Formats: sequence, C-alpha cells, structure tokens
Amino acid sequence: MLAGKKILLGITGSIAAYKSILLVRILVKAGADVRVVMTPSAKDFVTPLTLATLSKNKVLINLSDESTWANHVMLGRWANLMLVAPLSCNSLAKMANGICDNLFLASYLSATCPVVVAPAMDEDMWQHRSTKRNIATLQEFGHKVIVVNKGELASGLFGEGRMAEPEEIVTFIEENYFRQSALAGKKSLVTAGPTYEAIDPVRFVGNHSSGKMGIAIAEALYGYGAEVTVIAGPGVKPSKFKGIKQIDIKSAAEMFGHANSLFHSSDIAVMAAAVADYSPKDVALEKIKKSGDNLSLELKKTQDILLSLGNLKRKDQVLVGFALETNNEKSNALKKLEHKKADFIVLNSLKEEGVGFGKDTNKVTIFDREGNEYPFEMKSKALVAKDIVDLIIQKIYVKA
Ligand code: CTP
Repeated sequence: MLAGKKILLGITGSIAAYKSILLVRILVKAGADVRVVMTPSAKDFVTPLTLATLSKNKVLINLSDESTWANHVMLGRWANLMLVAPLSCNSLAKMANGICDNLFLASYLSATCPVVVAPAMDEDMWQHRSTKRNIATLQEFGHKVIVVNKGELASGLFGEGRMAEPEEIVTFIEENYFRQSALAGKKSLVTAGPTYEAIDPVRFVGNHSSGKMGIAIAEALYGYGAEVTVIAGPGVKPSKFKGIKQIDIKSAAEMFGHANSLFHSSDIAVMAAAVADYSPKDVALEKIKKSGDNLSLELKKTQDILLSLGNLKRKDQVLVGFALETNNEKSNALKKLEHKKADFIVLNSLKEEGVGFGKDTNKVTIFDREGNEYPFEMKSKALVAKDIVDLIIQKIYVKA
C-alpha cells in the first residue's frame, strides 16, 4: 500500500525518537519515499546521520540553512502525508497555536497534505488539560491522532503516554490513507484456518492450518478497498487492520452457517480454510474415559462449504477455492474447480519446500474456468494473496 507514497516524517524532541529509526526503516522497506524534518531538540535523542542513511535523503533541521530555506513550503506540498512521530508536548502546543520557530513547524504550517501525529509524553503531561485542549485543536484542524499506549514511561512510571509502536503507526496510516480503490464498494468473504470437530468436551479432530493464507487474502482485498469479513477457525491470529471483521468459529458446521448466510450479500468469496471433511458422528457429553487398547471413532461427512456456495453462486459473484494436494495435483485441482463451480482454484502442493500449514511462504498455481493456468514462484503469503486478488480484479473488470 505504501509503495511510491511520499511521507514527510516530522521528529520532535522526545525520548521516543529512538523508535523513529525503526519507523523510517519500515516505511522505506514498504516502498515509501521518506523525507525527515526534525526539530533542533530531536537531535539530542537521535542522530540525523542515522535518519539520513536510512531514509536515503538529507535530513532537514535548520530554518536558517540556505539550502533548506525554500524547502519548507515545498515539503508539505510534495508529501502525500505528513506524519509526526514522536510528537512532544512542546511541539504539540506550538502546532496547536501556529507558532513557527523552527523548520519542522514551518513545514507543518505549509503542509497541504493530511497530517497524522503520534504523541509521546509522560502520563501527567498527557493528562494535563492544556495537552487535551491542544490535541482537540489538532483534531479540529482535521489531523488524526494515533492513540498513545499504556506502559512503562521514560520517567520510570507506568501509565498512558507511550508512543504507539512503529508497526502500529505504519498500519494506521496504511489503513486510513493508502487503501486503493479497485474493489471499493465490494463486499468480500474469506474463510481461514482449521476447524475443530469435537469428540468430547476436551478433545477434537483438527488440522495444523494457521489461517495465515486466509488472513493475507483478507488484507489484500482490504488493501484494494473491499469490505472484508473473515470466518476464522480456532487459533487464527486476527489481521492487524481494525477494519477487517472477523467471526471466530470452531466447527465446520459453524463455518458453513456463517458462510451461507453471508454469501448472498458478498461480491467475492475466497474459501481458504482447511475445513475438516469429517466430524465425529456422536459427540460425547462427558470426557471419554480410557478403557480398552483400541478406540474407534465413527465420523460423518461435513458439509462442503465451497461446493454449497458454488451451487448458490450468481453470475455477478466471484468464488475462489483452494486445493491442497500431494499427488495428481493439476487433475485434482481441475476436478475441484469443475465440481465445486468456483471461478478460480488455487493449487498448493505440499511437496514444495517452504509451502504448507504455518509457513510464511507459499507457491501456487491458479486455474480458471476458461482453461487458463497461472503458475507463480515461491513468495511470501502476502504476495501470493496479491496475485490471487489481482486475478479477481481482472475477472470483475472483464465482467463489467
Ligand atoms: N472446502 C470447504 N468445505 C469442506 C471441505 C473443503 O469449503 N467441507 C473447501 C476448502 O476451503 C478449499 C476447497 O474446498 O477451498 C478444497 O479443499 P481440499 O481440502 O483441498 O479438498 P476437499 O474437497 O476436502 O477434497 P480432498 O480432501 O479429498 O482433497
């Protein structure tokens, strides 16, 4: 989401400025073009050399420096977003009152782009009425304030006032400013993770799926502007994006119930869950006691969610399934595509190194109903998800 985006990072004098180093690194790694403007006192906490090296741009500090004099107006116009992290109590007060006694403030006052601030201060300063008033003033200006965290503070006290972590700040700006619009207005549904089929109150039949692939798909859909609901099995770590809705379920029957009721209002459905194919026929009400040397469990077939949605699917909906295969991969995947009436089947082979449950990478081949085959290299699940969603977008545009 941040690739090619221009971020003007303002750093003010606070102990939390050490976190700005990591912030610059994450932003640059995500493909953003970062320029740093610091207050003179921020130099006491973090060196301009480190920030210049990481941002690959000269760090701007002095208003009187000839080479930067003209820049303060251009910086705010150049940027897609001005991010102030950390924002000290002093700079907050100056921003709220239009004071312009350094280059950072001059850049802020001339910024025409959106402004986001991540405050950092001790709890008593954070709680002071003047701080509250100044924060409210910035909000009135239309700026967004990233809430402070609770934890150990520079004073050694414990309380509210810690700057949000760099990862949280980056997620906040991605989610609020840099979602794309290709899928804006579209509703999507994703299943993710395993299902647990109860044997008795303490035991279940399950599998090792982590749900990472499903969450990566949800995030890719969301990044393109879609509304996203994930129906997630046990143990699935929710997305970092607050706007992605997650419904936690345990069994295949519960996943089936939610998927069926949400499908009719969805434009896109991606079934990435590793749904149990069978569940115990009878669930014991009490814990099964150990007895003989062998124990047989009778299992019954679960409902196939993808198949059921394939039968309900309208022409204006896009349905994607997965196929996890260990042999006759292509023919099995094509059979699933046909039988379950999906628009795409994403094949992952368990034979590949780096592929499988819990891994961060995946290697897939996607098949569509027109007979096309799209093989992809091994890559991160986030990039695999992007490949899948890019194909969905093509499909929607072809239809439109
Ligand atoms: N699937 C589903 N509901 C089930 C079983 C599977 O929605 N009860 C979906 C999966 O989410 C996936 C696709 O069907 O999108 C294929 O799942 P997979 O486990 O590869 O295939 P199965 O149909 O279960 O067949 P088999 O296990 O025999 O390969």
